[in-house]
Amino acid sequence: MDVTIREMVLEDLDAVGRLEHEAFEHPLSVTAFRASLRNRYKKNFVAVTTQDEDRKIAGVCTMRKTPEHVWISNVCVTTRMQGCGIARAMLEHAITTLTQDGWHRFILKVRPDNETALALYRSLGFTMNRNMTADCINFDIYELNC
Ligand SMILES: CC(C)(COP(=O)(O)OP(=O)(O)OC[C@H]1O[C@@H](n2cnc3c(N)ncnc32)[C@H](O)[C@@H]1OP(=O)(O)O)[C@@H](O)C(=O)NCCC(=O)NCCS
Repeated sequence: MDVTIREMVLEDLDAVGRLEHEAFEHPLSVTAFRASLRNRYKKNFVAVTTQDEDRKIAGVCTMRKTPEHVWISNVCVTTRMQGCGIARAMLEHAITTLTQDGWHRFILKVRPDNETALALYRSLGFTMNRNMTADCINFDIYELNC
C-alpha cells in the first residue's frame, strides 16, 4: 500500500473528524483541530493512502511542543487499515521531523489496557515514566528520548 505522511491542512479537517469519531470514544472536535492548525506550538500529521483509488486520510496524530518536550496525542488509524504499519510510519515520520527541529523528548499518555497502542509505543522505544501523572485517571505516561 502506498502511504504518504504529511502535515495536516485545512482541507483534511472533515476526514480527520470522521476518523476521530471512528477511533475514539471521546473524539477531538473538528473545531479543536482547526484551532490546532493555527497554533504554532502544534504540528498535526496525517497518513494518506492511495487505496480505493482516492487519496484518503488513514491516520492522524498531533504533536504539541513545550519547552521541555513534545506531547503526542490523537494517534489513530482507520479500522480497516490497522495492522499495516501506518501508525508506525506516521509516528516515525513525526518524531524524526520534531527531532530535526530540536526536540528530543516525547511524551504521551495511554490506557494500560490498550494493548495494541502499548505494543506500538514500546516497539518504537517508549518506556513508562512512573514519575509523571496523567491529567486524567486510568492513563499511564510513556516517554521516548532520542
Ligand atoms: C493503536 C493504533 C494507532 C495502531 O495503528 P496501526 O496502524 O494498526 O499500527 P501499526 O500497523 O503501525 O503497528 C505498529 C505496531 O503496533 C503493534 N500492533 C499493531 N496492531 C496490533 C494488534 N492488533 N495487536 C497487538 N499489537 C499490535 C505491533 O507492535 C506493531 O508492530 P509490528 O507490526 O512490527 O508487530 C490503532 O490500533 C488505533 O487507531 N487504535 C484506536 C485508537 C487508539 O487507541 N489510539 C491510541 C491512543 S493512546
